[in-house]
Amino acid sequence: MTRTIIANALKSTDYGTTVNIKGWVRTRRGNKNVSFIALNDGSTINNIQVVADNEKFGEEFLKPITTGACISVVGILVESMGKGQTVEVQAESFEIYGGADPDTYPLQKKGHTLEFLREIAHLRPRTNTFGAVLRIRHHMAQAIHRFFHERGFFYVHTPIITGSDCEGAGQMFQVTTLNMYDLKKDETGSIDYSRDFFGKQTSLTVSGQLEGELAAMALGSIYTFGPTFRAENSNTPRHLAEFWMIEPEVAFNEIGENMQLAQDFIQYCIRWALENCKEDLDFLSEMYDKELYERLNFVVNNDFKRLAYTEGVEILKAAVANGHKFEYPVDWGTDLQSEHERYLVEQHFKCPVILTDYPKEIKSFYMKQNDDGKTVRAMDVLFPKIGEIIGGSQREENLEKLQLRADEMGVPTKDIWWYLETRKFGTAPHSGFGLGFERLLLFVTGMSNIRDVIPFPRTPNNAEF
Ligand code: 4AD
Ligand code: MG
Repeated sequence: MTRTIIANALKSTDYGTTVNIKGWVRTRRGNKNVSFIALNDGSTINNIQVVADNEKFGEEFLKPITTGACISVVGILVESMGKGQTVEVQAESFEIYGGADPDTYPLQKKGHTLEFLREIAHLRPRTNTFGAVLRIRHHMAQAIHRFFHERGFFYVHTPIITGSDCEGAGQMFQVTTLNMYDLKKDETGSIDYSRDFFGKQTSLTVSGQLEGELAAMALGSIYTFGPTFRAENSNTPRHLAEFWMIEPEVAFNEIGENMQLAQDFIQYCIRWALENCKEDLDFLSEMYDKELYERLNFVVNNDFKRLAYTEGVEILKAAVANGHKFEYPVDWGTDLQSEHERYLVEQHFKCPVILTDYPKEIKSFYMKQNDDGKTVRAMDVLFPKIGEIIGGSQREENLEKLQLRADEMGVPTKDIWWYLETRKFGTAPHSGFGLGFERLLLFVTGMSNIRDVIPFPRTPNNAEF
């Protein structure tokens, strides 16, 4: 008999038909005569109720059907009398795939802290919270591909192993097959990478942008969507060492068009969540964040405020002058901390902000230099609760200027000669940005720690599972 997905069984009105459902037991309760088993198969946050006649199956047989056990049930779909559900299954026969010892199965009915659930990340997808988060994560990935596909963008796969440091921040994880116990060094004490697998030093990528730009300079509009790695030692609720990033890159787009694309993109994704993830969002908003819908709807319905970094800093300095306390100092030329970004978004403008034209010293070598000689055409999209959700820029298309900036910032030409050649042959204005997938998910789910929106988080001192 073919299996019926619980999401479909719950929507069915074919009362009297025989169905086969399979899933994991959430709870079993009952009385002398009947057992009520709440079964979940992950297709929806809702459980289906299975009703079993105790006498028919026998106490001994039903005993292993405890929280966490996996079973298959053949039974009749009937209209339910119980409140909160329309159908239930009257069990005819059971197959028990696997029990779950009540003394050792960690997910008993009581609520668990998110911290505890992180320690059992192999089982937490079976909770309502993580089921909801993972389903929303899936839907967001779909929304992203649809958004770009509908607009004629091509999905490009950029390499994960790379010999260049796109962001120039030196936060790369090295990839090597050299024998760590017997590292050969040359006369100057440097490691001889010509013996390494690729004949040069390589790392996991921090961004697919540089290769993405190459593709945009041929295909016009592209996006990447892949894993990125950063060995930054930031133990914060917003940083992962391994995260997923979406990076569109568009030939001929200038910074204004780039900002519009960023806004349209985020609004599309959030609208998608509102339209496709209602049950899961209902649950998360009820459990974790009563203002979730308000925030999501606000972002969908309002333009993002566009503002130069210099003006943003003025606002922050005025706030300090008025007695507002920040942990970190703020002055023109310093990088903004998340507390500053959130002040602008949550307290000052009360809407998402796109901050542009940052000092060149605090941004990457590839950004288009403004005529003032001090700032670059960078843009960060700042969001409530999150701070920076997108970082991007118009790119420097002038070869001399780009080469000069790379030299000044110590980016070796030998690592990026191929990137520089796009400026030598048929250069064009172009722009792009990177959206941190997990930061988007933080916003959409209302969760407050980035470790809770990725199945298996990688953070300093943590690579379990
Ligand atoms: O601002 P970032 O470093 O920009 C880039 O990597 C550019 N190459 C993007 C581009 O223009 N194509 O990172 C982009 C976004 C951030 O805004 C943030 O959302 C996310 O990536 N991000 C992280 N997310 C989780 N953990 C981390 N450690 C992150 N670092 C950046
Ligand atoms: Mg950034």
